[in-house]
Amino acid sequence: MRIVFALPLLAACAGAHAAAPVATSAPTAPTAAQVDSGRRLFARCAGCHQIGPNAGNVFGPQLTGVVGRKAGSVPNYSYSPALKKSALVWNEATLVAFIRDSDKVVPGNKMRFFSFMSEKQVRDIVAYLGTQGGPAVATPPRPVKPQG
Ligand code: HEC
Repeated sequence: MRIVFALPLLAACAGAHAAAPVATSAPTAPTAAQVDSGRRLFARCAGCHQIGPNAGNVFGPQLTGVVGRKAGSVPNYSYSPALKKSALVWNEATLVAFIRDSDKVVPGNKMRFFSFMSEKQVRDIVAYLGTQGGPAVATPPRPVKPQG
């Protein structure tokens, strides 16, 4: 009897403890260590995505300045209708969810990415993405016309 009662209690405690630090430590200002870890983990994305000032669309759309960007909005990339139609704006929460299970966030999207990563690793990647430019940070002159 005691065991029967103890187990659900333990499970509940473990759940509470696991959830709390992740939620509260979800950083607004990532540490250098996180960004560095994310930079290394980005190797798992680099087969399909480029990022940085000279990034172009390859198999996947370029991810420069993806944080704050509307989903499916890079010019000249052939998105799935699902992603294009989604009303998502990429922020930390939507990116973490999409990287962990893209089909759950945008059903029918065409990104096929499966990797066993902890929530922390995914957050590190997103922290790194946040350091890679954006409309305000894209300093090099761009040959393309500004988006209308
Ligand atoms: C096997 C190739 C592949 C890998 C690996 C991959 N992606 Fe993708 N990704 C895609 C494709 C293809 C799309 C376009 C999806 C669509 O149009 O539905 C995409 C779309 C995205 C988008 C949406 C971009 C936009 O402009 O709306 C984000 C963000 C993204 N990927 C992040 C990542 C990150 C971060 C990783 C690594 C953790 C990763 N992807 C790994 C192929 C990949």
